[in-house]
Amino acid sequence: MRRSDRSKAEVERETGATIGVYDASFEVFEGEIFVIIGLSGSGKSTLLRLVNRLIDPTEGHILLDGEDLAGMSMKRVRDLRRKKMGMVFQHFGLLPNRTVLSNISFGLEVQGVSASEREKKGMEALHMVGLDGQENKQITELSGGMKQRVGLARALATEQEVLLMDEPFSALDALIRRDMQNLFLDIQGEIKRTVIFVTHDLDEALRLGHRVAIMKDGEIVQLGDPEEILTNPADEYVERFIEDVDYAKVRQVDAVMVEPKEVAYESEGPRVVLRRMRQAGMSSIFVVDGERRLVGVCEAEDVARLAERGENSLGDAMDRSPKSVGRETPLRDVLPMFVEDNAPVAVVGKQGRLKGVVVRGSLIAGLTTGGDENGTDGESLDGWRDEEGAMARDAASGGLPRSGADSGDGGGGPA
Ligand SMILES: Nc1ncnc2c1ncn2[C@@H]1O[C@H](COP(=O)(O)OP(=O)(O)OP(=O)(O)O)[C@@H](O)[C@H]1O
Ligand SMILES: [Mg+2]
Repeated sequence: MRRSDRSKAEVERETGATIGVYDASFEVFEGEIFVIIGLSGSGKSTLLRLVNRLIDPTEGHILLDGEDLAGMSMKRVRDLRRKKMGMVFQHFGLLPNRTVLSNISFGLEVQGVSASEREKKGMEALHMVGLDGQENKQITELSGGMKQRVGLARALATEQEVLLMDEPFSALDALIRRDMQNLFLDIQGEIKRTVIFVTHDLDEALRLGHRVAIMKDGEIVQLGDPEEILTNPADEYVERFIEDVDYAKVRQVDAVMVEPKEVAYESEGPRVVLRRMRQAGMSSIFVVDGERRLVGVCEAEDVARLAERGENSLGDAMDRSPKSVGRETPLRDVLPMFVEDNAPVAVVGKQGRLKGVVVRGSLIAGLTTGGDENGTDGESLDGWRDEEGAMARDAASGGLPRSGADSGDGGGGPA
């Protein structure tokens, strides 16, 4: 039906059957990162799974070093998967009752590598992903980002030439995701595997891909290097996808937010808070409750006035409707919030918890750099690129990771 030009939707309506992937032809070169991108349901995972025969193609060929995986015996396919093709899944695929190191060397175990060799290669891979010292931890003790590193290390340890990666970073926070992308590029620069990488994030595709295939309704609608795709979108669908590269429109708060340098707890008194603000050089501070939910913001002058009057509560100094946004707010909606003053904007999560702050300097850098390496994400935690950023940092309560160990108990102990 599709061949006689009926659309995927029509076929689905009339038969109840879905076209997973249709007529997709492409070549992947040795050592390249080949990215497959497309909306949800466009067939990316199906295509990836066809490559290593987790799904059987109804027709066509899958050639690896001249050998056709289509129609190959499952025994030989398993052999190829062990020796030549690894896969990193979105949800890690880790074994919860094993340690970090034995998870990393699991692939080698399957390959029948000796215990001493496994340990050696496992430790090398552990080092590559920056998990030194964590080898004996249980998987359950790790954060999401660390688990993802373990998943990556496992794929790296096995020296399989081809790595298939299905949205490996999409479960991660924006900041950690950016770190992982950089880490992955660093490692890839040295080991030069051949990678097929699935994502639905255009930023990620353009950053990682040597070439990018765009999928729609099970078909590849464009294939080219990032530059070609941006300058010469093949059809309207691609163009609409690409329009999203208008960063001011698409980039979100979580790409430019930083950790609040300090916060005040609503149970704390003005003298404690004032002292903390002075030490950190802040002119305003966000106030949270014992569960780190945002309740207000205080200016240093007002806190000082209360302290002079000998008051015990922050109440009178607190503005109970601070500037705040959700993590997924587009940056263009945040810019107007800095028109009247340069005070930082609070970023709150679903339960109203304070997740970070946006300061004017990082926002502007985020709008103008388009989120490349020199942007503000991640890096902004320990450095600011421009004078404006430095000024904003001084004026604001954001910009650096928390250095002190204070106030973590939520109860407002001595500063
Ligand atoms: N196990 C399945 N059984 C039936 N249909 C499926 C199955 N898996 C996927 N499909 C269908 O095949 C098509 C392609 O799905 P696929 O999972 O490859 O999309 P995707 O591009 O990876 O999407 P996402 O970004 O959401 O992961 C969709 O129409 C989907 O409904
Ligand atoms: Mg998928």
